[in-house]
Amino acid sequence: MKFFIDTANIADIKKAYKVGVLSGVTTNPSLVAKEGVKFEDRIAEILQLVPEVESVSAEVTPEALTAEDMIAQANELIKINNGDKNITIKLPMTLEGLEACRYLTKKGVKTNVTLIFTVNQALLAARAGATYVSPFLGRLDDISEDGVLLVAKIAELFRVHGLPAQIIAASVRHPDHVTRVAMAGAHIATVPYGVIEQLSKHPLTDQGLAKFAADWTKAAK
Ligand code: E4P
Repeated sequence: MKFFIDTANIADIKKAYKVGVLSGVTTNPSLVAKEGVKFEDRIAEILQLVPEVESVSAEVTPEALTAEDMIAQANELIKINNGDKNITIKLPMTLEGLEACRYLTKKGVKTNVTLIFTVNQALLAARAGATYVSPFLGRLDDISEDGVLLVAKIAELFRVHGLPAQIIAASVRHPDHVTRVAMAGAHIATVPYGVIEQLSKHPLTDQGLAKFAADWTKAAK
């Protein structure tokens, strides 16, 4: 399973990229709004910052409700990317979003269909040619449903039918989500920087380091 970072924050993207585990970035209108910057400028900045990753998801804005409007926005976003292939147009899981997905896929543009909460939505998105589908597990857990189970079912469905869409486990809240979606067959987990930090830690690692340091200092005396 690969890691994407789920943020529009430049400092967090820089920190995660430096570690060397990053294969992509996902953003959404809420994440960009939180930064208080112009959407296109921030996407351009991110694209420059992580030139080697496979995907940077830029979501069409909430005003774009028709496939036509989504495609028009996608065409503007693609221009920012200057012909490179890592920009991915993130589209809502609606019939209009699926129509835009099919169109952009035919044009060779990568797509990420977002806000997926059922297996049927994932199947539709995959059949519309989505490069990525994004089930939101944390938000399902929030309403007492099982987000990881959804990821497992989608992974099984894609395997049985040989569907090439990659599953991005989204709305990931903690390290246990990461372990469980990896075991369930997600291709990617998109996570906030805080979760990447948490994944690297264990109290016994800290204790072990402290003991090595103490023994080393003792021996040096
Ligand atoms: C994914 O692409 C979304 O940006 C994200 O994971 C949403 O997560 P949230 O439920 O924490 O807002």
